[in-house]
Amino acid sequence: KMKLAVLTSGGDSAGMNAVVRAIVKIGILRGCETWIVREGYEGLVRGNTQAHAIHADLPTDASALKCAHRGVPTNLTQNLRFGDGDLLRDGTGDHHHGRTLKGRYIVRVGWDDVRGWFAEGGTLIGTARSAAFRTPEGRLSAAHNLIKEGIDALAVCGGDGSLTGADLFRSEWPSLVSQLLTQGMITEEQAEKHGHLKIVGLVGSIDNDMSMTDLTIGAPTALHRICEAIDNINSTAASHSRAFVLEVMGRHCGWLALLAGISSGADFIFIPERPPQTIPGGTWEDDMCEAIRSHREAGKRKTIVIVAEGAQDADLKPICAEYVKEILTERVGLDTRVTTLGHTQRGGRPCAFDRILPTLQGEEAVKALLEATPDTPSYMIGVRENKITRVPLMEAVAMTRAVADAIGAKDFEKAMSMRDPEFYQ
Ligand code: F6P
Repeated sequence: KMKLAVLTSGGDSAGMNAVVRAIVKIGILRGCETWIVREGYEGLVRGNTQAHAIHADLPTDASALKCAHRGVPTNLTQNLRFGDGDLLRDGTGDHHHGRTLKGRYIVRVGWDDVRGWFAEGGTLIGTARSAAFRTPEGRLSAAHNLIKEGIDALAVCGGDGSLTGADLFRSEWPSLVSQLLTQGMITEEQAEKHGHLKIVGLVGSIDNDMSMTDLTIGAPTALHRICEAIDNINSTAASHSRAFVLEVMGRHCGWLALLAGISSGADFIFIPERPPQTIPGGTWEDDMCEAIRSHREAGKRKTIVIVAEGAQDADLKPICAEYVKEILTERVGLDTRVTTLGHTQRGGRPCAFDRILPTLQGEEAVKALLEATPDTPSYMIGVRENKITRVPLMEAVAMTRAVADAIGAKDFEKAMSMRDPEFYQ
């Protein structure tokens, strides 16, 4: 029986809870024992110092907990059962409904533990950017903690850094197991049973910056949030005949900025992959002013300029919202304001697609883990042309890095062609 754990890592995104729900429920339906790891890789490194205190009073055999109408185990951690919005996470590990989670980061969960999670924002099992997991000692501890619980499969939902960490962990696994055996921390039998760690990655990121997949989980919701914000700004901008410069997230990727601009009729958009082009002898500032003046002359009462947080000019000099405001104020004479949308873009309930995509990808992820052998690569579950796909995780990570390298080398054509030419051309 596969013992399957799921964790969320890196910056959160809407839809991560739907991933956890899908992995747990589909895992149970496929006969797996299901676990969650709290606080991302940090929880894996910390593990469980308090043994089984939480479900000591519950049967540990899943078959003893059958949900009559579904025939699947349910509610293994019913004493972790959460009220509305009051879920597994307890920060420093204090009390939760009178029970303690202190010292337990790797927790077995059942069907009811994740009921309704598809509609919740953020990640209820917590996430972290773990410094400890980046060290060999941290990964040794993580391996030990998994083996202690008998877990042999791990589903990781996060961005490219988190998925790279997962792949490194898997590639080091045999050496970690032999170190643990030499140090007498695990038995021969455990070492033999845990010779292979199965890993699968699902991409959770609002940035939509992963290559070899069309969409990352959380990007559609973030885009929706941005569009709503621009709709709100549009009305006040038109009332006052003002200009607004909006800075949107996306790190080194312009997807959110570009698509938000298209869906809300922005006047000018700055993205990292395609620096503003200038007519010979001019500057991008001239071009922008010219475009905006012409929109005003055509009768527009408002101006919206979107600046991706990673935007830069052709010399890789950052373009920041305050500078754009200055230009619009001084050279076009517009009453201009800057709005930085910040983390409002990342929080809140997932839109329908950020519930559907994790559910379909969760199914494929569990399937990939059940089929994994020591010779198959770790897969990243993606979506291409409306079909759920499996691609070798490291190929996708390498391609994503290559896009960043191409931008750094000012080869913007190459960057766009590797990102997604149809969007960026
Ligand atoms: O990767 C997601 C993201 O929201 C980026 O768009 C942004 O640059 C970054 O994370 C912000 O990170 P933090 O929440 O740590 O400030």
